[in-house]
Amino acid sequence: MTGFFDEEEFINEAVELVQNSIPAPAKAIIACSGGVDSMVTATIASKAIGDRLLAVYVDNGLMRKDETDEVEAMMKNMGINYKIARAADEYFEALKGVEEPEQKRKIIGEKFIRVFERYAKEFGATYLLQGTIAPDWIESGDGTRDTIKSHHNVGGLPKDLGMTLCEPLRDLYKDEVRQVARALGVEASERQPFPGPALAIRCLGEVTPEKIAIVREACFIVEDEIMKASKADEIVRPWQYFAVLLPSKSVGVQGDRRAYGYTIAVRAVDSVDGMTATFSRLTLDVLNRISVRITDSMKSQVNRVVYDITSKPPATVEWE
Ligand code: XMP
Repeated sequence: MTGFFDEEEFINEAVELVQNSIPAPAKAIIACSGGVDSMVTATIASKAIGDRLLAVYVDNGLMRKDETDEVEAMMKNMGINYKIARAADEYFEALKGVEEPEQKRKIIGEKFIRVFERYAKEFGATYLLQGTIAPDWIESGDGTRDTIKSHHNVGGLPKDLGMTLCEPLRDLYKDEVRQVARALGVEASERQPFPGPALAIRCLGEVTPEKIAIVREACFIVEDEIMKASKADEIVRPWQYFAVLLPSKSVGVQGDRRAYGYTIAVRAVDSVDGMTATFSRLTLDVLNRISVRITDSMKSQVNRVVYDITSKPPATVEWE
């Protein structure tokens, strides 16, 4: 976080920067995840270079419930020139048998850029816009800090990219990006942050379509219950809140029989920029509603729900 930040001034400068960095008739491409960072970048770039920009939303099969439709609607509303790349099968194939978190991140980062490169070639883009913000590169190791995680925006990029990078939000922190989003009228402004590797890093161990379906539904329930509770002033809405599917099974009861089922960990944290975070003091009533709804709606798959009460540090926000 910095001191005073003038979002209007930032927008004008960023539009100018993109115009100067990408002179006509050059074309640029951006991967638009629908998160606040990429939506703000795409909106600024669209203002700067119009239809010389193509925003590509990669449907990797790892996104949240209804996300693809919502992001498409947002891009349409902002008048951005866009395409949807349907690539779920390719991702699941590449992730088969892979358990190691960093490996998963690398595969997803690389797959993403490959899918995306196909669109870039077709469009004739020579520039790549990215919504990288300060915490992304600070935590990715710039020679002075250890790599905590190879963040998708940085570590996942192969060296032979062949496009010139343009990152207009590079010096901003999350709260500043949200300020800019509000000023631009970007609907994504109040969305909670969502990691580039998506639900894959909330599904510990090997990723399969079945496990992703479980964690997707669990994430939806956590989001829905927390939104309802915060709208009813029962709790203050946390900064980020989601579910994690653990890789091992434990014993439970179903009817009068013992059954093996998965465990869902619920994570909710309060933070300003994700660099540090404290676990949210949700009420036991809210936690109970989440637990009952998850185990009721996925009876044959999930029989246990736990709440993560660690802050960052020593934990990270995500589990992988
Ligand atoms: P961690 O888990 O590092 O998360 O404490 C801090 C914030 O960053 C998000 N996150 C990511 N965002 N690519 C992203 O764009 C990533 O690989 C990634 N990993 C974590 C996380 O959701 C949290 O908001």
